[in-house]
Amino acid sequence: MNTVTDSDPPALRILLVEDDVDDVLLCRDAIGRSDLSCQLSVVGSLREAISCLDQAGADVALVDLSLPDAEGLDAVTTLAGRYTRLPIVVLTGLHDEDTAASALHAGAEDFLVKGPSSSDSISRAVQYAIERKRGEETRRARDAAEAAKQRAEQTVHELERNYRQLFDSNPHPMYVFDTETLTFLEVNDAATTYYGYSRRELLARSVTELCLAEDVAFLTEAVGTAATVDRWGPLRQVKRDGTVVEVAITSHVLSFDGRPARCAVIEDITEKELLERRLRQSQRLESLGQLAGGVAHDFNNLLGIIIGYATMCAHDLEVAAQTDEHWRTSYDDLRQIIQASDRATNLTRQLLSFARAEIAQTQVIDLNAVVTGIEQLLRRTIGEDVEMRIHLADHPWPVEADPGQIEQVLLNLVVNARDAMPAGGTLSIDVEPITIDDYYAAHHPGVGVGRHMRLRVADTGVGMSQATIDRAFEPFFTTKPKGQGTGLGLATIYGIITQAGGHAHITSEPDVGTTFTALLPATDEPALSAEPLAFDLSDARYQARDHETILLAEDEDSLRLLTQRILARHGYTVLPASNGHEAIKLADRHHASIDLLLTDVIMPQMNGHDLAIHLQATYPALPVIYMSGYAEPMLASRSTLPAGVTLFSKPVTEQQILDGVRRALDARRPQPTSGAGHAEPDAAQAEPDQESAAAAPGPRLA
Ligand SMILES: Nc1ncnc2c1ncn2[C@@H]1O[C@H](COP(=O)(O)OP(=O)(O)OP(=O)(O)O)[C@@H](O)[C@H]1O
Ligand SMILES: [Mg+2]
Repeated sequence: MNTVTDSDPPALRILLVEDDVDDVLLCRDAIGRSDLSCQLSVVGSLREAISCLDQAGADVALVDLSLPDAEGLDAVTTLAGRYTRLPIVVLTGLHDEDTAASALHAGAEDFLVKGPSSSDSISRAVQYAIERKRGEETRRARDAAEAAKQRAEQTVHELERNYRQLFDSNPHPMYVFDTETLTFLEVNDAATTYYGYSRRELLARSVTELCLAEDVAFLTEAVGTAATVDRWGPLRQVKRDGTVVEVAITSHVLSFDGRPARCAVIEDITEKELLERRLRQSQRLESLGQLAGGVAHDFNNLLGIIIGYATMCAHDLEVAAQTDEHWRTSYDDLRQIIQASDRATNLTRQLLSFARAEIAQTQVIDLNAVVTGIEQLLRRTIGEDVEMRIHLADHPWPVEADPGQIEQVLLNLVVNARDAMPAGGTLSIDVEPITIDDYYAAHHPGVGVGRHMRLRVADTGVGMSQATIDRAFEPFFTTKPKGQGTGLGLATIYGIITQAGGHAHITSEPDVGTTFTALLPATDEPALSAEPLAFDLSDARYQARDHETILLAEDEDSLRLLTQRILARHGYTVLPASNGHEAIKLADRHHASIDLLLTDVIMPQMNGHDLAIHLQATYPALPVIYMSGYAEPMLASRSTLPAGVTLFSKPVTEQQILDGVRRALDARRPQPTSGAGHAEPDAAQAEPDQESAAAAPGPRLA
């Protein structure tokens, strides 16, 4: 054995596993004579070999096949299994080649025939075993690396395939585009279907080519300043067939074939935007309605006072004016005041209609009949240059609405159409039954499902821009020159249709025309025809009989005074009260009969409805007439009066008061008797007169 010096390569650590002392000596001798630079450790059993290898390890083991604790190949199998990197050389007996071959099979690298072996053969066997082990390890490592590489490649391949599938079969249109040139680099199937272009056609285009011209700058800037993941929209794009859609684009940065790119997912928000716009519009109209209703209500009170006093003065001056020129001028001036106030009343009426605060005289009507009834007036309105076509429903369903209001709707629409066709054109009115399904209802806020009657008025006029359509229903919105339009026409229509539980909308195209559509819910009730109201001021029956007494409750002083004067002039005894409590006190103190309660609806402390209920506990037959600036929820649900309730809609004229009061009083008792039937405390428990109750007029609008 060679001496080991510091400069030599590290000595080979050889473990000799051999229990036969002679063999140990022979082996040690051969190693000593060899050129191996080594440290030799000797153990006599497999157990000791394991212990030695566990503690100190070895570079090679020489293993005898006949050990006290392991017979045959057991030692080789155990050591090779336990120390996979340890080269093993088996020591066999002479001519024992079969055993040697089995040892190689069991994990040994080489074998050495025991005996006075030459130092050369032991050195060769040791070095060969080491090299063979190393080669084997290198091969195994290379194989493992190769297998790992293959696995990694397979994983990448699978990932790519999955992502490709996610992209290709994604139901949302998706594309990858170059952020410098904005050209498409890849598109998925949904994108080709959505835009209507083939894959090849899209790949030859840029993202901006799909955008509406006005939105190109927006998109270019968005791409230039985009965050890693970004969302843009609403953005208008044009499909191959020319359809304009609104989309939202969500995109993220990526590198595609070495190009800086973004992967974009397209979401069609056309319907969502439309729905939101419609919702915003109806909310805006709702709040405008509240505002308009409030203003019109206060304004009506003032107008009532102006008209009332002016009318009384005019009556007083009427006779003098016929003979005296001076009074004639004053009388004419008063007529001017009354006329102007009438126009103002009309305006507030329209505002109240818009606010759905007008009391509607709802009836079950046939739309066909309403259209036919007003047809002549409409024809006169449009003039000769416009051709009017009317198409009525073959089998109309009745609807619940105020026929007068529906006429107003038609008239306003026809006037609008006429104004939109200064050089003539065609105006079509059509009435059609239609059943609204869930889909339509879901896309039109405010429309209910089920049977409806559709009223459409279409013209071939100048049409409207989207901005005009958006605002057309707003009160005072007009595009007409000053003095030519108040902008209340469509607002009124909107109020009337929605008050009737319906839905109104406009479709229009500039230079093509406009179609207004109203949908009114159908009813199962049979249609009635409207009963005309007859009124003749000169009729003596509007005078009081036997000084009938009217309890008048109105908090607005001047209005109370005015109403009191009107009634007093016609022979009524009036008990005026400025609020509900005062009215109750007056009634308690008044020992004669009270024939009627005429009360405002909204009053501080106690409203008119509560006052009526209170008084009717004592005077069950007491007729009640309400006066109101606009529909009060406490009287009317959905602004429709219950049968038998009379309501004066402010501003109230002298004629209306007298007519309404007379009718209510006459309905109270058999005509034309006197005295009997007065509502007196004594009669409190009397049953209401069935016959006269039946004769009472239905809901009336004064
Ligand atoms: N048939 C139509 N064709 C084109 N534009 C219309 C049509 N109907 C309404 N418009 C537009 O809607 C606006 C509002 O209409 P609306 O009927 O409410 O008021 P107006 O006609 O201007 O005034 P008013 O009806 O009070 O006299 C009009 O000024 C017009 O711009
Ligand atoms: Mg109009």
